[in-house]
Amino acid sequence: MKYDFNKTIDRKNTDCIKWDYLNAFFGKNDIHPMWVADMDFRTPPEILKHIEERAAHGVFGYTARSDQFYSSVIDWFKKRYNWTIEKEWIITTPGVVPALNLAMQEFTEPGDGVIIQSPVYFPFKDSIEANGRKLLDNALVLKNGRYRMNWQDLEKKAEFAKMILFCSPHNPVSRVWSNEELEHLGDICVKHDLMIFSDEIHADIIFKPNTHTPTAKISYALADRTISSFSTSKTFNLAGLQLSVNIIPSKELRERFSLTIERLHLNMSSIFGIVGTQAAYLYGEQWLDQLLPYLWQNYMTVKNYLTESIPEITVIQPDGTYLLWLDCRKLKLSDEELSAFFVQKAKLALTNGVMFGPGGSGFMRMNIGCPNQNIIEGLDRLKKAVKDDSPIVIDSAPCNSQNDC
Ligand SMILES: Cc1ncc(COP(=O)(O)O)c(C=O)c1O
Repeated sequence: MKYDFNKTIDRKNTDCIKWDYLNAFFGKNDIHPMWVADMDFRTPPEILKHIEERAAHGVFGYTARSDQFYSSVIDWFKKRYNWTIEKEWIITTPGVVPALNLAMQEFTEPGDGVIIQSPVYFPFKDSIEANGRKLLDNALVLKNGRYRMNWQDLEKKAEFAKMILFCSPHNPVSRVWSNEELEHLGDICVKHDLMIFSDEIHADIIFKPNTHTPTAKISYALADRTISSFSTSKTFNLAGLQLSVNIIPSKELRERFSLTIERLHLNMSSIFGIVGTQAAYLYGEQWLDQLLPYLWQNYMTVKNYLTESIPEITVIQPDGTYLLWLDCRKLKLSDEELSAFFVQKAKLALTNGVMFGPGGSGFMRMNIGCPNQNIIEGLDRLKKAVKDDSPIVIDSAPCNSQNDC
């Protein structure tokens, strides 16, 4: 089947945050949304069919995860990441960020050091602060257009840390980490007895020739200290179904994590989370294999357009994810001015890079999980705004405040 990713789906009036809450977050409704990390495509028809059939049944009582649910996860992990996992290792939560918070609460104490690698998905920092843990930022380094980890700094910070929140692939800098990088990270974590929460929510959106290696697959020593969190939410646009799949090979970690979940009565899942996840893993592959080149084409559209018409802005080449990291430093604007420039002048809703940490200053994150014509629309607006030399007006609109999407 050939899927039509160019088809425009009107998402307005569905209460979706990306299109319906622009005024709340940017102080304006008439702006073009390229921010929240979900896509503007319909979920694959193969998944919709199962959700619709289940909805048509009309009785939505408490529902278990069947053996078929677990085998759909196991088969996907084998097929897509060549990782053999066992049924007992799989624990679901209503999202990756809840899993991350539960792990931090169970395995660290208030005041303990937790490492992040900024610029990074901002709920990492927020969660550390909300739980009263100590934020240790092992900032990534940008060199020759590519982000890398700072090993020396990681060694130093690891001495004072209990856990690292690792983002693989990385949002927003779109890095897919190599096996060598994962091994190096693993050696440091083992040496300093660090636990790893490995957020692998973007693991399926990978551009060739990159491949995704799950952190815990690197070695037994790493598997023993890692909680890895995956989901079909980014891959198949199912974020509203709120189900993530956590893989915990260590019996000890698994038992403690499960107890925390049971204490909070979070061990049930929504019916549609179960049905959607299972159908995605069983029947979604063909759609995904056609989505990936479409997203790459969207990236090429952005890259070529910027090179030809907006040379003041460049884009970091992504290894994966549908989030682009735009380097706007040549515009020479403060972060406040950059937000105002995008919202007021370009009439575009992007995420300001500084939200992801100090290294994001001067950058903007652009979501390209949408029909190609929406990308062109955004770029046309941007070109016009860059050419317009009227002053930037910073008003009191809440440009910088966002939810955790
Ligand atoms: C790296 C990363 N982790 C987690 C999430 C959100 O996960 P969830 O909605 O399952 O809590 C996102 C969403 O953008 C993300 O980019």
